[in-house]
Amino acid sequence: MKNKLYFKLKNKKVQEAAFSAILKEQKHIGYYALPEQNISPILTYAKSIPDDIENVAVIGIGGSSLGAKAVYEFIKPTKKLKRKLYFFESTDPLNITTLLSKLNLQKTHFLVISKSGTTIETFSIYKYIYSLKNDSKSYTFITDPGSPLEKYALDFGASVLHLPDNVGGRFSVLSTVGLVPLALSGIDIQALLYGANTLKKSFFGAGYMQDTLLKKAVFYAQNHAQYHINCIFAYSETLKYFCEWYVQLWGESLGKKQRHSAFNVGLTPIGLIGPKDQHSFLQLLMEGTRDKSVTFIKIEDFQDDIVIPDISLPHLESLDSLNNLPFSKLINMQCDSVIKALLEEEIPLDSISISKVNEGNIGALMYYYELLTSLVGELIDVNTYDQPGVEAGKIILKKKLNSLS
Ligand code: PA5
Repeated sequence: MKNKLYFKLKNKKVQEAAFSAILKEQKHIGYYALPEQNISPILTYAKSIPDDIENVAVIGIGGSSLGAKAVYEFIKPTKKLKRKLYFFESTDPLNITTLLSKLNLQKTHFLVISKSGTTIETFSIYKYIYSLKNDSKSYTFITDPGSPLEKYALDFGASVLHLPDNVGGRFSVLSTVGLVPLALSGIDIQALLYGANTLKKSFFGAGYMQDTLLKKAVFYAQNHAQYHINCIFAYSETLKYFCEWYVQLWGESLGKKQRHSAFNVGLTPIGLIGPKDQHSFLQLLMEGTRDKSVTFIKIEDFQDDIVIPDISLPHLESLDSLNNLPFSKLINMQCDSVIKALLEEEIPLDSISISKVNEGNIGALMYYYELLTSLVGELIDVNTYDQPGVEAGKIILKKKLNSLS
C-alpha cells in the first residue's frame, strides 16, 4: 500500500506528541494488539462447522457487522469462497424477509454478534429468526465475557466466543467479531492480520516521523475547523462497504465534546465511489465550499483483463479512442484525471494505491484507518473510543417500548 500526500506541513512537535500519546494508549486500548493475536482457536472453531453449511448469517449492527461486511465484499469478486455471508443489520421488515427468502435455514449457521449483548436491532431480529429455527447447534454467539448474552447462550446450549473487553465495536474487525464470519466464508484471516501487522510495524518503526499516516493525521487535526469534511473517493465497487465502515469509524469516533473544554467538534466522513460519483458529488468538491479534504483509493492491478472492443459506432466515432483499452486502465485514468482537476483547485488531497484485491491489502488499509482515527482523536482532544451521543435516542426508545406493555 502506497500513500502519497499532496499537501505539506511542518509540525514536528505535534507529530511527536501524537505519536507518543498513541504509544501510551496501546497499554489499555485493545485493538492495537489484534494483528499479533493467536488465531488457532478461531481456525479450530471454523473447522467445527459442518461442510454442508452453505450460508453464514451475521445478526449484528454497527461495529458488530460493518467490518466483516467490508472485507467480504472486497474479496468476494476475486475469490471462490467456501460459504456465502449474509448480514441482518436492519429492523426494516422488507429487508429481513428478503434476506430470509435467500436462505435455506437447514444449511445456514447464525452468528449473533453483540459486544453489549443488549442491542435492540440485534435481538429483535434474533427473536424472529429463533422463532423459525430454535436448535442451539445453528447458533454461535460472540459477546463480551460475562455479558447477559453469554449467560443466555450458555443456558441455551449454543457456542460462545468472546471478544476482548478492551476492544470497542467499531475497532473490532480484526477480533473474533470480524475474523469468525470471515474464516467461515473461507477468507484467509491469517493474510488479513499479516497485512495489518506489516502496516503496524512500519508505522511504529524508526521512520515514524516520515510516515504519511502521521503527517496526514496532523494535517486533518490542525485544519479541522476549515476542512471538517473528509471524503474517501474509492475507485472500485469492491470498496463500497469499506466506505460504510469508514463512515462509522470516523463519525462515531470523532464527533464529540472535547475532553478539556465544552466545545463540540467533529470531522464528517463521506464515502464516494468512482467513477459513479464523478457524475454527482464531484461538482460539490470542485466548486463547493472549501471545507473538504479528499483521499483517493486506487487498485493498481484488478486481475481482470477485459478490454473495450475495437468497435466503431456510426455517428459516435469520437468515442473510438476507447477501443482496445482495458477497463482497469480506464478506471485508473479516470481517477488520475480527477486528482489533477482537484489539485488545480488546491483542494487538500492524498492518494492510496493498493497493489491488488487481496486479504493482506484490505487488512493494511483498515488498520491504517484505525490508526488515523486514533491519532486524529488524540489531536482534536476527544475520547475516540466512547459514544455517549447515541445513548439518548436509545433511552427514549426503551421508554416508548416499556410504555407499550
Ligand atoms: O462502535 C460501536 O461501539 C457501536 O457501533 C456498536 O458496534 C453498535 O452499537 C453495536 O453494539 P453491540 O455490539 O453492543 O450490539
